[in-house]
Amino acid sequence: MNEVKKRSVGIIGIGSHVPEKVLTNKDLEAIVETSDEWIVDRTGIRERRIADQETATSDLAYQAALKALADAKVSADEIDLVIVATATPDMFFPSTACLVQNRIGATKAAAFDLAAGCSGFAYGLVVGTQFVQNGTYKKVLVIGAETLSKILDWTDRNTCVLFGDGAGAVVLGEVEEGYGILGVELGADGSGGDLLKMPAGGSRMPASAQTVADRLHYVHMSGNDVFKFAVKVMGEAAAKALEHAGLSSEDVDCLIPHQANIRIIQSAAKRLKMPMDKVMVNVDKYGNTSSASIPIALNEAVKSGKVKKNDVVVVVGFGAGLTWASCVLKWCGEDL
Ligand code: UT7
Repeated sequence: MNEVKKRSVGIIGIGSHVPEKVLTNKDLEAIVETSDEWIVDRTGIRERRIADQETATSDLAYQAALKALADAKVSADEIDLVIVATATPDMFFPSTACLVQNRIGATKAAAFDLAAGCSGFAYGLVVGTQFVQNGTYKKVLVIGAETLSKILDWTDRNTCVLFGDGAGAVVLGEVEEGYGILGVELGADGSGGDLLKMPAGGSRMPASAQTVADRLHYVHMSGNDVFKFAVKVMGEAAAKALEHAGLSSEDVDCLIPHQANIRIIQSAAKRLKMPMDKVMVNVDKYGNTSSASIPIALNEAVKSGKVKKNDVVVVVGFGAGLTWASCVLKWCGEDL
């Protein structure tokens, strides 16, 4: 039997968008009992962007999508599928992907949201790739977008100092053989679901005056446990994706880790035996933007020249679920 030839799939356009408002660690000192020193020392975060009251996740996603489409030189009506990875959708339904699909005018596109916490964008990359690889679709828009600030308990210093808002988007399409996505690794461990969650507002605990009074519509996290999970899984997931690509960490030109905490990033790099100058870090500027962090970091790496054509790039994330995801790509650059 003849094997069906799989198409090579890569990122053919990328863009990101963050709100204008900057919230510094100093600003946070006036909100909760914390200090710039503690936050920088324990997390590496110096400031983050915060969406205003009128701005929802789909607004950030829309801006990032426009930039990715322009970068790819693809018009919205060429998009076959919109995937939005988010833990902070505008509302339960319709999906944020449908809101974006309508706003950009991707009238031919199917659309759905993907829930995998902070690993959502990397999950989305892998899911979107399948449709192009098997010939179902030609162009897929994958977006990671969040307004975590809307579900943070601004009286809880354990969580409110960590997160920020933003969005990043890519257009996936067929690329020259040998480029694009070379290896992937996805995983989940639902037994760790309680470590990072928004307890109320769903069917388990519908919204009520009591759930609001009990502050159950906010992020609840066991930071220390998530930290231990993250340092273990980041290195492992990236190593497995590299193995599936037939590569080793020595072949990697740039690591784009989920930007949650500089100590987690450093420990992942160490486990992969990668020097920090090959690791993209911008957690200092944006904090943890959940599913938006990888595309924002990747966009910055590409636009600043840290990632160039022919580079081997590894993205790796972890998050609520618990989940993890990694993707190895050979960067195809502009002129392909
Ligand atoms: O995308 C996935 C999302 N989640 C994450 O990435 C979180 C992963 N976890 C982490 O990044 C770290 O665990 C944290 C940054 C959340 C916490 O750092 P840590 O080194 O694990 O600190 P800790 O939780 O062990 O807390 C140390 C101390 C505690 O005080 P006591 O009990 O030792 O007196 C906390 O109450 O630091 C205290 N603390 C703070 N102090 C000042 C916690 N938050 C703050 C704060 N400012 N904002």
